[in-house]
Amino acid sequence: MRNIVLIGFMGTGKSTVGKRLAQSLAWDFVDTDSEIGEVTSLSVTEIFRRHGETRFRSEERIVVARLSQQDRIVIATGGGTVVDPLNWEALARKGIIVALHASMEAILSRIGHKNDRPLLKGTNEEIEKLWSERQACYAQADFTVDTSQKNIDEVVSEIMARLGRRINNEFSGVAND
Ligand code: S3P
Repeated sequence: MRNIVLIGFMGTGKSTVGKRLAQSLAWDFVDTDSEIGEVTSLSVTEIFRRHGETRFRSEERIVVARLSQQDRIVIATGGGTVVDPLNWEALARKGIIVALHASMEAILSRIGHKNDRPLLKGTNEEIEKLWSERQACYAQADFTVDTSQKNIDEVVSEIMARLGRRINNEFSGVAND
């Protein structure tokens, strides 16, 4: 059985949904940002501040390579993880890639002006630019769930239903949506 990999922009709900989804499947849950934090003993903010984004991305690649060896885990990635094609390839080889989408309005209202995400320190226009640039990448997922107007249970149910359909289709040879 493959892993389930949640991708998407900051504030789309990857970690919250991932934890709940893992519980529903009785699988382990792993969050790449938390793994990086454990390996480096630094928060994401601290790594960016002390060592810069390049160091963060290299730690992220190591974590992804390690997690991609495992089975039956739900992985919540950071918003920029799969922008690196090597990470995408490693995660996709062993996993079903599920994108969580949210509108810019929903993201801004969820994240507010919290200071724990280094890439969200800019203006709303800068955040929106990053969000727009990343959409084409996220759109390559096996399927996408829009979380803008849904609560966690609704998002998890939708993912479970679509995973069920994919698994049935894979066995019956029907093309997936
Ligand atoms: C990032 C997203 C963050 C974290 C880091 C960089 C990004 O994760 O990995 O701050 O490039 O979008 P979340 O999406 O979990 O906030």
